[in-house]
Amino acid sequence: MDFQGKRALITGASMGLGKALAEECARRGMDLFLVALPDSGLPVLAGELAGEFGVETAWLEGDLTEASTLERLRDRVEEEGLDIDLLINNAGIGTPGHFLDHSLEYHEATIELNALALVRLVRLFLPDLRRRNASILNVASLGAFFPMPTMPIYAATKSFVLHFSLALREELGGTVGVSVLCPNAIRTTPDVNRYIDNLGPLARRACFTPECIARSTLDGVARNRAVIVPGAVNRVIAFISQVVPRALINRTIRHYWGTFLRCGCGKLAPAGGGADHV
Ligand SMILES: NC(=O)c1ccc[n+]([C@@H]2O[C@H](COP(=O)([O-])OP(=O)(O)OC[C@H]3O[C@@H](n4cnc5c(N)ncnc54)[C@H](OP(=O)(O)O)[C@@H]3O)[C@@H](O)[C@H]2O)c1
Repeated sequence: MDFQGKRALITGASMGLGKALAEECARRGMDLFLVALPDSGLPVLAGELAGEFGVETAWLEGDLTEASTLERLRDRVEEEGLDIDLLINNAGIGTPGHFLDHSLEYHEATIELNALALVRLVRLFLPDLRRRNASILNVASLGAFFPMPTMPIYAATKSFVLHFSLALREELGGTVGVSVLCPNAIRTTPDVNRYIDNLGPLARRACFTPECIARSTLDGVARNRAVIVPGAVNRVIAFISQVVPRALINRTIRHYWGTFLRCGCGKLAPAGGGADHV
């Protein structure tokens, strides 16, 4: 894919990986349509990116789990003729914790945003994307490759995203490029950085900044890669997780994420809510 002069619609673009993807798209000459929750600073970000990179920016604030947000999104695209060449489904939530540590409402909200909203957005835009020979990038996680005790619902939604993306890619047969991103924990904040560094040398080598992930992700989209796993260590983890017995993977992940929780990462987000992602 050639990015120059094309337009990307990016969900969850106000911070973290979504913001880094927005910056990287703009750096490569793409116009932007940014989406995030209300009061997340999108208008300011859109203005800054337009000024710095000389691209057109539009933004919409709304909760993607509400039908009215998707309707407003569709209306804006139609009324303003905002043709989309790259749909980036990045918005997602997931807080470390055992199944019973979170409310049922939080689990439902995780499924609603990570899986259902993503499917609805793809269904909404796919006919147009197909006409334009455009691309979709769905953001999953390294946790999409295995069950994750201590993040059971989050990892299950990311497995859904991985398998949905791969099946859709095959169905579309190249008329729309479909890539799925599966990153390890991302160094989104100083606190997350500290926790990652406490986990030891392997984690330090496997976890990258949002900017670094955004660069390798767009390189992967440009090459129409099916699955993008940034970092050699993470590609090895993804491969091993497919070939070793599931019981062993389960025990290892439980131990690893148990350490993550014990060293305090679970406290980064308010109980039963919040949006710190790993
Ligand atoms: N961080 C990691 O370690 C990691 C690792 C692997 C995969 N991932 C995945 O990468 C993606 C981005 O993660 P991140 O850590 O960069 O996220 P983040 O910093 O928490 O940002 C999340 C973004 O999604 C938006 N958002 C949240 N709920 C929304 C909703 N209901 N409707 C519309 N927008 C909503 C937020 O808007 P507001 O700013 O308004 O809240 C924000 O822009 C997620 O899909 C996550 O699962 C993250």
